[in-house]
Amino acid sequence: MTLAAAPEPKANMGQPARRIEARAKVTGDARYPSDEALPNVAHAYLVTSAIAKGRISRIDQRAARAVPGVIDILTHENAGQVKGSKMFSDGGSASTTIVPLASPRIWHDGQIVAMVLAETFEAAREAAHKLDIAYAAERPTASFASPGTTTEAIAKVSKRHKDPQVGNAEAAFAAAAVKVDAEYYTPTQHHNAMELFTTSCVWEGDELTIHEPSQFVYALKNGVAEQLGIDPGQVRVISHYVGGAFGAKASVTPRTALVAFAAKRIGRPVKLVMTRQQGYTVATYRAETDHRVRLGAGRDGKLTAYLHEAREITSRPDNYFVAGNINSAVMYAFGNVATKASIVHADRNTPGFMRSPPEVPYIYALEAAMDEMAVALAMDPVEFRRLNDTMVDPISGKPYSSRSLMQCYDEAARVFGWSKRNPKPGSMREGDWLIGYGCATATYPTHVAPAAARVQFYADGKARAQLAAHDVGTGTYTIAGQMVARTLGIPLDAVQVEMGDSRLPASPVSGGSNVTASTCSVLMKACEAIRDKLFAAASRQGALAGVPVAQMVLKDGRVAALDGRSESMAVVFNAAGAGVLEEYAEWFPPGKSAEDVKKLYQGAAGITGGTEGEKLMFAFGAEFVELRINVRTREIRVPRIVGAFAAGHIMNPRTARSQLMGGLIWGIGSALHEETEVDARHARYVNTDIAEYLVPVNADVPEVEVILVPEVDTFVNPAGVKGLGELGNVGTAAAISSAVYHATGKRVRALPIRIEDLL
Ligand code: MOS
Repeated sequence: MTLAAAPEPKANMGQPARRIEARAKVTGDARYPSDEALPNVAHAYLVTSAIAKGRISRIDQRAARAVPGVIDILTHENAGQVKGSKMFSDGGSASTTIVPLASPRIWHDGQIVAMVLAETFEAAREAAHKLDIAYAAERPTASFASPGTTTEAIAKVSKRHKDPQVGNAEAAFAAAAVKVDAEYYTPTQHHNAMELFTTSCVWEGDELTIHEPSQFVYALKNGVAEQLGIDPGQVRVISHYVGGAFGAKASVTPRTALVAFAAKRIGRPVKLVMTRQQGYTVATYRAETDHRVRLGAGRDGKLTAYLHEAREITSRPDNYFVAGNINSAVMYAFGNVATKASIVHADRNTPGFMRSPPEVPYIYALEAAMDEMAVALAMDPVEFRRLNDTMVDPISGKPYSSRSLMQCYDEAARVFGWSKRNPKPGSMREGDWLIGYGCATATYPTHVAPAAARVQFYADGKARAQLAAHDVGTGTYTIAGQMVARTLGIPLDAVQVEMGDSRLPASPVSGGSNVTASTCSVLMKACEAIRDKLFAAASRQGALAGVPVAQMVLKDGRVAALDGRSESMAVVFNAAGAGVLEEYAEWFPPGKSAEDVKKLYQGAAGITGGTEGEKLMFAFGAEFVELRINVRTREIRVPRIVGAFAAGHIMNPRTARSQLMGGLIWGIGSALHEETEVDARHARYVNTDIAEYLVPVNADVPEVEVILVPEVDTFVNPAGVKGLGELGNVGTAAAISSAVYHATGKRVRALPIRIEDLL
């Protein structure tokens, strides 16, 4: 019997190896950054703003200072030395340009206004609550509907963005025989990783070590150095394990430099573990968006027009945006396209990356509209997508490197039993339960970035890989090990993988689903260089003397010739005159250069891909859900979800399935549960914990079936890998809203869909 968790590899897939750090994690042996025992550590506790807009008018430290064990209290009055840095999305590293404790100005609710340092966590917390701060408050702007917003076209504020358009979409829409014109809304979401946001800083002379869960240790190293005004060479970041990140641990939040500054100031190590509530405003979030989508089609079902206007919330000072129209505009053979994305400034903390940042809101809106169009055309939604499938970018005409969307639809539809669906809304019922079937497209751009790695191969057949990559729970340790094992022809357990330390060769951000593609490409390059040396040595003496290197392979820990002869690694190493062969490699994708590897060392990820190259690079999937809605209570359940995905070479079907399943489950949350509620009067998040911020729990999670569809793509990168970490949760919400319509005949166009929407 095949274990569902470890699917049998199909064509172009690696082995479903177990995570090499699994035992360390389940036994508690894996040390997360805040687990680090630091002698003589002082504990920090943040004080955050009680207003969203205005100024601090007075701070009275007396009661707080009187708490036994308090060491120091940092406020803007005594600690304004930390500098700002550019936003991650503008080529810097920061999550926001708002500098902590720089001035009495308040930009958003929950902004850092003080840091208390004490002998114990409890003393620091007590003093933080006793710090008396008076504010001069102004009326804040919370969101789209609040007075005082300012709106800017993203194409106007950023050189990085151009709104896709082609042809005359307005005219084509006006002339279309069948039209959809609908507005959609996606809510504020917070990452809520199990692991909180933590930072511990230790100075030894002028050398700073930072223990912090990070998706990008090189950005943290360089960003904090910049904020402290010191040389990056003085900073080391250690982040061996990350307890969930989802984008929130990619950029440098304002707390880190402050902790480092505090540790320097009091001459002791300082440890900060933010509360979950504080994470909502000190770190980032997925901002709410709204959309107007218009689709035009002929009676034959061929699309002729796609118009998409969208708005995204951001903070007052920062131009953070996701602008997913870049990707939505290339999804189908639209004919004519006109899109426009804007940001809306409000008195909020700056949003940031959250799993599939552009695609979750924009592809939801597109796919929801696609479902409405299929209904308007009285067509099956799968056949409607097939009719408008494209192998080229409808904007530029560039081809897709590969695109297996319809293979995914066909596989998932078959396994799901889509043919049993009666298309008439409300027609399928079992007892008190209305049944709805729905489907939608999942997609994610294939990203690649410059990367470096070092590999050592020893005469005893063991190898070591060193790279400053990150394992955010995704399986990076294992996949890196698999690439080394495969290329050197040794078992996985002969490979030791070292990651999560800025002293190791630089790896890109664990973001944009680029890591497997980028790090496997550079590891392959390093291992192939070692392999070439081994082959050369083997051809010089021993059993393979005189055999051309083109006829050699590394297999089962030996150098083998195609004719069946082989030589032991010990003999080959002896011939090479070395006990260990080491290779340091750098790899960069087309369009990038060695200069970009230097920039990677300076903390710039340099991600490229998607629509940027000669060909479009995207992974695809098709998601099908069965929904049940109680006729009396309107309770919504999801008993079944099937997703089929094609993402190039699959390094490990076990970790791939796990990522895709996690994405599908998150998609259920996006559709039915998740929303950070914003109090419009105070521009304040109100459900800031995992009791009140709803995410799918075991009882909400159905039978989830993940199908890996074989796909070969030699264009995307040497490893042939398309990232899939963010693919799964794109489209799920649209599939569920389509199923809600099928079950009830009611279109709900604002997420999450709740009982009250269906009464
Ligand atoms: Mo992911 S949201 O690109 O870190």
